[in-house]
Amino acid sequence: LADISTLLLSRIRDVADYPEPGVMFKDITPLLADPAAFAALTDALAEIAVATGATKVIGLEARGFILGAPVAVRAGLGFIPVRKAGKLPGATLRQAYDLEYGSAEIEVHAEDLAFGDRILIVDDVLATGGTAEAAIRLVRRAGAEVAGLAVLMELGFLEGRVRLETALAGAPLEALLTV
Ligand code: PRP
Ligand code: MG
Repeated sequence: LADISTLLLSRIRDVADYPEPGVMFKDITPLLADPAAFAALTDALAEIAVATGATKVIGLEARGFILGAPVAVRAGLGFIPVRKAGKLPGATLRQAYDLEYGSAEIEVHAEDLAFGDRILIVDDVLATGGTAEAAIRLVRRAGAEVAGLAVLMELGFLEGRVRLETALAGAPLEALLTV
């Protein structure tokens, strides 16, 4: 994993003061545009999916879709989209979470998750952990199990890992990079 982290890091662009002053945005579009880096990332996350014994992969809209969908295909697993509220036509489970200002809601089709499923949740970045925590809650509320949470990048200084400790209840949190 040592050399892949160098490759991945080299394809993530730091954008200062975006989306607001004082924030350093981690732009993954150069990584997505590099087929070798995107393939290496997909393979590494798919290995985690297999190692955790996941039976399905959840991707978190929007950037978690880009990463999670190829991981599911690579690992031979089904893909489940967790969407921002209001986008799914069927019966859903909905979960609210806090943002810096206000709150938001995510949703999943209830029929996509069942008792006995083991879910790997995939996203690009773990920041405060609010998004991931809401996704973990959705999985549990559906009666499914959390096989783990896998992210490209963990922003260590925001301590999302600490926040998620209770929600994860021993399930692994795998970050390919910690910045
Ligand atoms: C970003 C990022 C993670 C989340 C991490 O998503 O892609 O999903 O924030 O933040 P947190 O750990 O503090 O919850 P965002 O909803 O901003 O945008 P996206 O639709 O581009 O993924
Ligand atoms: Mg996101």
